[in-house]
Amino acid sequence: STSEAYSLLFKLLCDPGDAVLVPCPSYPLFEHLAQLDAVAVGRYAWLDAGRWTLAPDDLDTAISRRTRALVVVAPNNPTGSVPSPEEWLVIGEACRRHRLALIVDEVFTPYPLDASAATLRSIRPADVLSFRLNGLSKLIGLPQAKLGWIVVDGPDDLRRQALEALDLVADTYLSVSAPVQVALPALLEAGAVVRVQIQSRLQANLAAVTALAAGSPVDVRRPDGGWSVVLRVPRGGDPDDLPLALLARDVLVQPGYFYDLPHDGYLVVSLLTPEADFRAGIDVLCALPAALLT
Ligand SMILES: Cc1ncc(COP(=O)(O)O)c(C=O)c1O
Repeated sequence: STSEAYSLLFKLLCDPGDAVLVPCPSYPLFEHLAQLDAVAVGRYAWLDAGRWTLAPDDLDTAISRRTRALVVVAPNNPTGSVPSPEEWLVIGEACRRHRLALIVDEVFTPYPLDASAATLRSIRPADVLSFRLNGLSKLIGLPQAKLGWIVVDGPDDLRRQALEALDLVADTYLSVSAPVQVALPALLEAGAVVRVQIQSRLQANLAAVTALAAGSPVDVRRPDGGWSVVLRVPRGGDPDDLPLALLARDVLVQPGYFYDLPHDGYLVVSLLTPEADFRAGIDVLCALPAALLT
């Protein structure tokens, strides 16, 4: 799956003690995935400025002598944001200047929300070794099928070397099962139906939270794509208070700090929840006593 693709790439690109640079906020498992391959994790920031914005100075200072790869998750989890064309240029330039490989996690590209599908496409420089990751988990909603893949791009010699080395790593682990490989064409075809159902639920839930939160202290940080939405609540204090108050009312959200969002006032909500439950949950959130929300 895509998690294993990360592990193969860390083995390919890093020696023990080398580092990969991952976005902040983002998918919380990077740290563990890297540690299990004896690789360190550095972070570069995406700032909440209406849209999630790359901080180029922060990116530069986060790159060390031991950094080997820069990871971009687009659309990002949980923010659903994608880099702008200008930000892709900054990312490409940083990879070129510091001789980093670029790893782009594209698992959420099939699910555009506020942006067009074309905007979700990554912009990678032709002279940088890059790896695009995807798999069945999000593409057709089958995480248990455990099939992922890596598309390798870049200069011919680097690409060839990378593919040969990846062949060796993948053959050593033999983790892909023959049944799922044989079934892949049929799964991809059948999965188109599921993808349409997922997309329609995501859009309905995003529209619902946008409408229900209007006029409340809850602010929706609109995602370009993906399966979740980040909500901003003007609240200081203990970041667990609000999620626990909601849990006591049978509503499950995640505090933003699970994803390295700032501790105060960020909640992450799944857009995959069945629509009636989702609306009920957002209703409960918006009706919480002011003392809990502000
Ligand atoms: C951004 C991102 N990348 C990768 C994965 C892992 O996917 P897989 O199930 O293919 O290992 C996830 C899982 O949620 C994810 O959110």
